[in-house]
Parts: sequence; structure tokens; C-alpha cells
Amino acid sequence: MTKEADFDLLAAQVRALTEEGGHWLPVLANASALIMDALPQLNWAGFYLASQGEGNRRSLVLGPFQGKVACTRIAWGRGVCGTAAERDEPQLVADVHAFPGHIACDSASASEVVLPLHDGSGSVVGVLDVDSPVQGRFDESDLAGLGLVANVIEGCCGFDGPPL
Ligand code: SME
Repeated sequence: MTKEADFDLLAAQVRALTEEGGHWLPVLANASALIMDALPQLNWAGFYLASQGEGNRRSLVLGPFQGKVACTRIAWGRGVCGTAAERDEPQLVADVHAFPGHIACDSASASEVVLPLHDGSGSVVGVLDVDSPVQGRFDESDLAGLGLVANVIEGCCGFDGPPL
């Protein structure tokens, strides 16, 4: 089976979760479980959600995930997740230790891919973060495949505004 076919199946499985008429919270929880199961060589898969934070400063708050205990709050613009959110650009990082400001929640993480998630008007409302203990684990096909999953989540079940 090709990698592309795997991601098509994964996106279809996540879509099936959204069709139960559910709330975005259990969908994100089950989506992180599906991603962790479907992709080899991962140590963390989950979501950070945009929050207004204190004094109107935006930050990312830990959402549903699979993996080790993670940082609760990440400043907008900090680390790989904060950079993806601030720039509104996916981040494909082959060596997290070479990424300026990388936040080492799980010291096992060596590479990661982070995709911004948007509401209906295009604002960033969170990120999908997938980490691997293997350097250079992710390539453009992973980015595109996880983009299919992100698209399903963006269109689902009330996930359309800063949820926290
Ligand atoms: N590595 C991330 C922090 C989140 S954890 O890896 C789960 C970052 O630098 O944004």
C-alpha cells in the first residue's frame, strides 16, 4: 500500500468520526488516536488550540493527544507549534534540535510536522502536531497526507472559532 493510500484511509476514518454528529472534542481525541495508530515511528500526535490568553495575548493550549505528558501552554510564535500558528504555515522539521526555540516536551522527539488549523474565515484556531523519535521521519507526502486530515477536522462539528 502506498503512503498516499494510507492517508486517504486515515482521512476517511476521521471523516467517519465527524459524521456521528459529534462535538469537535471527541473527534480530536479519536483523530489523535487514529494518527498515532496509522503512522509508524511516532511518539506524539495531537492538537494545540488557540486561546486569547492573558492581556489579549494569543497562545496555544494543549488539546487532545496521544503520547507523553506535554507542555500545557505555548506562546504564539514560540517553538515549532507557535511558529506554525503565527506564520500560518505548516512546519516540516527534520531535526527539532536545530530548530530555534524548539520546545522539548518529550525529549524523545527528533523530528516533527505541524499544520495550522483554520476556522471558516481562515483564522488559525489551532495546530495539528505530529512528532517522531526518528530524525527526518517526515517528508512532503506526510505533510500533504496530514493536510487531508486537517481539512476534515477544519470542516467539522463546530470547530470554527477559538475554542478555549
Ligand atoms: N515540540 C513542540 C512542542 C509540543 S510537543 O512536542 C508535544 C514545539 O516546539 O512546538
